Amino acid sequence: MGCLKNYITKLHQSTKRDYLKRMCDSKVECMKIARQYGYDYWDGDRKYGYGGYSYIPGRWKSVAENLIKDYQLADGMNILEIGCGKGFLLYEMQLLMPSLNLYGLDISEYAIKNAHPKLKATFFVGNANDLHIFNDKMFNLIISINTLHNLPLHEIERSLNEIDRVGDKAYIVVESFRNEQELFNLQCWALTAESFFRPETWIYLFNKKSINIDYEFIFFE
Ligand SMILES: C[S@@+](CC[C@H](N)C(=O)[O-])C[C@H]1O[C@@H](n2cnc3c(N)ncnc32)[C@H](O)[C@@H]1O
Repeated sequence: MGCLKNYITKLHQSTKRDYLKRMCDSKVECMKIARQYGYDYWDGDRKYGYGGYSYIPGRWKSVAENLIKDYQLADGMNILEIGCGKGFLLYEMQLLMPSLNLYGLDISEYAIKNAHPKLKATFFVGNANDLHIFNDKMFNLIISINTLHNLPLHEIERSLNEIDRVGDKAYIVVESFRNEQELFNLQCWALTAESFFRPETWIYLFNKKSINIDYEFIFFE
């Protein structure tokens, strides 16, 4: 059974979000564009996604430190990040521990093309629900941050089955809600999410797998 972690909540809370403004700014059009995960989502106007996602030195450092310490990562271990985006977390891990073998998978060709230029990871453009390119139990740790809620339920299940097959353990972060206000805020803000579940539903899905899947939830307070 996995357990609750607290690595990225502080980072998430450091960003200000105007939920109602997003809801009223051609949101359906913006969702269609965001779901292409191209230039507009990453580096275009904020209404399509990140509004310009550049590397900020040290921003992901404490997350990388926690992962290395808590999962006792050692030289030569294989780490996969599913939904790695531009690879900024993997790059912080590389700075702290250059001996790790880092792998990144993302559906966004744009993100991978624009990954940190000094990141020496092996990248794959692909879908979280199909990891056939990887061998059984190939990874010591699988990380996935803010990615799986973008899939419909049947694809989440396929993805978790694949994570179970190729990994020894996993740390997964998803968007979630604890009450009506947070569900409203999340639905206003989300451009790409398809699965809106309470923490207990996510934990139910994670605990059905044989490996330990640790988790963290992002809430929109
Ligand atoms: C909110 S971003 C998070 C990126 C990165 N993990 C971070 O925290 O900076 C969501 C990521 O999931 C990726 N993504 C969405 N659907 C995916 C899928 N089915 N398979 C793989 N990656 C996917 C997107 O391209 C994007 O990189």
